[in-house]
Amino acid sequence: MKTIAIVATGGTIAGMGADGKATKYIAGKIDVDHILETIPMVKDIANIESHQLFSVDSNNIHINDWMTLSNTINEIVNQEHIDGVVVTHGTDTLDETAYYLTLTLHTSKPVVITGAMRPATATSADGPYNLYQAIALAASDEAHHQGVMGLFSNTIFSARDIQKISNYKVDAFDHRGFGCLGFMQDQDVSFYTRTFKIHTLASRFSEEPITSLPNVAIAYFYVGAPSDSLYHLAKTHKGIVIIGSGNGNYNDEWKKAILDLSQQGIIFVRSSRVNQGVVFKDNIFDPTNACIPANTLSGQKARVLLMLSLMQTNDKTEIENIFSKY
Ligand code: SIN
Repeated sequence: MKTIAIVATGGTIAGMGADGKATKYIAGKIDVDHILETIPMVKDIANIESHQLFSVDSNNIHINDWMTLSNTINEIVNQEHIDGVVVTHGTDTLDETAYYLTLTLHTSKPVVITGAMRPATATSADGPYNLYQAIALAASDEAHHQGVMGLFSNTIFSARDIQKISNYKVDAFDHRGFGCLGFMQDQDVSFYTRTFKIHTLASRFSEEPITSLPNVAIAYFYVGAPSDSLYHLAKTHKGIVIIGSGNGNYNDEWKKAILDLSQQGIIFVRSSRVNQGVVFKDNIFDPTNACIPANTLSGQKARVLLMLSLMQTNDKTEIENIFSKY
């Protein structure tokens, strides 16, 4: 029988509130061992070793927690008897943690991240079933070499592309228009696609434990947005991700500020507030190449990649190359 480690961090899957209700609860209250008691059929799939690493609402996850989580999982997967890992996490920032993990974990063993939209105390809580399927996925031979995967509502997502698209439906995630990696039916796993983007063992960010990351900010463009916020952020950040309109666009005032600040060494990335599509290099809109296009990454995921890139290099051409491959 396989052995799966569960690393619990809190979230709504561990949320506690009024009996039966799906609202007005506190996330990160219940230990994962109590959730496991509600899915005894897990014992037919795997032996479980649980680690209650944090008990937080995922909005309180800090960058230091990403490093602790990734370094902990890297130690766990190095143990020969461990066949896979499941991370339980709040859904609000799960997309960012998932991407950080797929870039920094040095393993081909399956690592699956899951959570829930309803607290553990709700009627028809979705957490126990997601956890059950996540364990089955982590125990599946087919799930090796897939990078970190998200598991929600019978659907397997790649960590790079998973995004939260509903703040109240149980079916709360999608895949930025790419289609999912696969589906599950109870414990049975079916894969259909594979990401071509670099992750885990092949990632240049998974070779050494990470102990600190440079500051990178996000600036959201809107009609009439002044550029002072960019100058303000540039005082304390090495990089700024723009969440622009359309193809990562912004007004002439921002163009001038971005050109000015990029000449002073700030690295800019252009992502889009449109949640599907690709931000391409645009020689007409950005003739001086002041901004690196985020490709298909959301603004918050582009920030994760820019932080990791700036940890290794300040060379803009090299970072642009990273953004085209990861
Ligand atoms: C959280 O992200 O911790 C709260 C919301 C959720 O898990 O759905």
